[in-house]
Amino acid sequence: MRFQAPRGTHDVLPAESFRWRHLERTFGTLAEGYGYREIRTPAFEDVELFVRSSGESSEVVNKQMYDFRDKGDRHIALKPEGTAPAMRALLEAGAIAPNVVTRVWYATPIFRYERPAKGRYRQAHQVGIELVGSPSPAADAEVIELTVRFYQALGVAELRVMLNSIGRAATRAAYREALLAHVAPWLATLTDDERARALKNPLRLLDSKDEEIKAAVADAPRVLDYLEPESKAHFEELRRLLDQAEIAYEVRPEVVRGLDYYTDTVFEVVGTGPGLGAQDSLCGGGRYDNLIKDLGGPAVPSVGVAMGVERALLVMEATGVGPEEPRPPAFVVAMGVSRDAGRALARALRARGLVALEDPDARSLKSQLNQANRERCRFAVILGEEELAKGVVTVRDLDLREQLEVPHSEVAAWLESRC
Ligand code: HAM
Repeated sequence: MRFQAPRGTHDVLPAESFRWRHLERTFGTLAEGYGYREIRTPAFEDVELFVRSSGESSEVVNKQMYDFRDKGDRHIALKPEGTAPAMRALLEAGAIAPNVVTRVWYATPIFRYERPAKGRYRQAHQVGIELVGSPSPAADAEVIELTVRFYQALGVAELRVMLNSIGRAATRAAYREALLAHVAPWLATLTDDERARALKNPLRLLDSKDEEIKAAVADAPRVLDYLEPESKAHFEELRRLLDQAEIAYEVRPEVVRGLDYYTDTVFEVVGTGPGLGAQDSLCGGGRYDNLIKDLGGPAVPSVGVAMGVERALLVMEATGVGPEEPRPPAFVVAMGVSRDAGRALARALRARGLVALEDPDARSLKSQLNQANRERCRFAVILGEEELAKGVVTVRDLDLREQLEVPHSEVAAWLESRC
């Protein structure tokens, strides 16, 4: 039997993993520049954490959860997102208090039982930030600015920031009525089951990709017209701050987000260039002022965002941006009597911070040179019996196929000056 990666998952092989590291390092460095500190949470949590935060009516909870009973009969879920676990961890550590700002960043796998497609996986990966403890629109602006700077740092230029506000409970209650009145003719055509599903979270009708639903919500009233004065002022100040930071954005009333914990600001960044196809949402985020209270903590307003790692990498690959994989500078070729000296030389090169490979089997010169080429090394550092006697090494440039002798004691400096 031959095994395959489970459906909806993928392996990251060595030829690709350096791109992942580049993305994660770029993100971590950027986030730390704003004062975010890394948090790591378990791969699984009590299922209730996600039911209480993402919401029972969200697809993530009611359709996509990887949940199971463990051997102690606990109801567990693999985390479908990173925000609720981060809040659970901070609350548990006593790190959340009113009027205290805490900034965390994370890089995490997420698990969602979705229909796999390009850019949509059952194990996907996110990098994200959470700015906990500030009600200010300046916090929202910081999160959105960092998001845009991240894509700029990666070289992803073709994107659009889609911004909206979904207000608070009173706004949503009033808006729900207006929206339902607008779609009443379409609701009347549905079966009881379909209608019950639509009524669970009517806001989600707005970002549906279903053509029939799209037609039903065309010309629907806009949630922005139902905002309470405080939410309206918040949104206007956020817009002013984004303009000031020269962050281009579009106000898009159909952006409502798929998780129930949002209040006021919501946003997504979509990629407009090649690489993504139907899964064009690069990231999503927003304000969640009630989440921490809903998890049993104090009322602490917060805002955050999570970016899809695979989706960013797909865009980078399609547009040809991102780094080349670095090449190892040296393959130390040694045979027979020079094997011990070869190992010592490789060790000395590594001690200087140079990458040095060896052939553990010390095969023929030819097969070691082939191996050096396969490993994409820049130089073969050949140490044979003759070189050993003369106190030199033969350095062979594997691209130019030229070689020269370098004194054994100078080879590290010689490589350093060229790699
Ligand atoms: P989300 O919109 O569910 O938000 O996910 C954020 C991003 O993760 C998406 O835009 C997408 O790039 C990526 N993503 C999600 N699911 C998949 C999947 N199945 N395959 C590939 N990529 C995927 C959240 O998760 C919130 N926790 C964001 C947040 C943080 N809100 C506040 N703070």
